Amino acid sequence: MPVLNRAAEMQEEIAGWRRHLHQSPELGFDVFETAAFVEEKLKAFGCDDVVTGLGKTGVVGLIRGRRGDGATVGLRADMDALPINEITGKPYASTVPGKMHACGHDGHVAMLLGAAKYLAETRNFSGAVAVIFQPAEEGGGGGNEMVKDGLMDRFGIHKVFGMHNMPGLPVGQFAIRPGAVMAATAEFTITVRGRGGHAAMPNGTIDPIVAASQLVGALQTIASRTVDPIESVVVSVTKFHAGDAYNVIPETAEIAGTVRTLKKEIAKTAQQRMRDICVGIAAAFGATIDVQYNDNYPVTFNHPEETVFAGDIAATVAGDAQVHREIQPLMGGEDFSYMLEARPGAFIFVGNGPSAGLHHPAYDFNDEAIPHGVSYWVKLAETALAA
Ligand code: NI
Repeated sequence: MPVLNRAAEMQEEIAGWRRHLHQSPELGFDVFETAAFVEEKLKAFGCDDVVTGLGKTGVVGLIRGRRGDGATVGLRADMDALPINEITGKPYASTVPGKMHACGHDGHVAMLLGAAKYLAETRNFSGAVAVIFQPAEEGGGGGNEMVKDGLMDRFGIHKVFGMHNMPGLPVGQFAIRPGAVMAATAEFTITVRGRGGHAAMPNGTIDPIVAASQLVGALQTIASRTVDPIESVVVSVTKFHAGDAYNVIPETAEIAGTVRTLKKEIAKTAQQRMRDICVGIAAAFGATIDVQYNDNYPVTFNHPEETVFAGDIAATVAGDAQVHREIQPLMGGEDFSYMLEARPGAFIFVGNGPSAGLHHPAYDFNDEAIPHGVSYWVKLAETALAA
């Protein structure tokens, strides 16, 4: 069974919503206009219940099937954009300087709205479908906020599914894997305190820049010399701030960055090793080193049974040869992970074709992916909730 005819018919309308959202990107939890647009559409489709303000600015639409009581399946899209200046030059480009939908969440919202419209029209299932629109995926943990606000219990959600577009994967193809599919993220800030002084008399100082420079190099050994090479870990130092003058050795230097892992024990090892290295470098240079280490999103873990199910649904939409069921995990983070910690489910990728990469200023969601994504959502709901 290929793409649904109705989903293909709706493509232009859904692309219109997508382009409208693309013009007015909003960040983090401040997705007020986007949430209002979603709310208005869900009400117009005749959803049985539309709840707003869940997880601050999240929106949920509940659509009951016409075949009686049963379980509720949650389908989730993310609504937020990124602090990037768009360079696509598209007629529907962002009208807000410094903000853009560079991760395709505009497309995710539009596709889930399209599925909601279809499911509210047909209601060819038992139980209910909860369409979940979350804020603050790109940092902020909006998915976690919605779970903490009672998302799962309030709507009786027993399984939850997510979808993200993937540049480089041809349109019409899907990709998934069981188990860890996206990384756990952690952020660190390391402050090196030395003793400042005249740059021409370094012997009278404790130079925090030299100590921090050694630290940047030493941190690379977490991946190269501490963790088993077969395991996955990323340690990236992404900030290095120190000093203001040509002739002054400053008092402090600050470095910061991110750690990505796919297993809890590797995450623990990476953090402990970072702290040990800091203690050692501090002793070697006579500096004081303070480490702030914050675990952020957990691993996005695809539950095995639901992953097979999601792959089978994708295969009914796209054909078996178009579904990659054992892709490599990605070291990016994803806060759908919190929903997958709360309920069984799976996170799948839909092909975005040869577009610029995610978070790139030339990226654009591919509207040709819409019928595939909408058909996936609809088939998933109808099959999971077949009476
Ligand atoms: Ni994204």
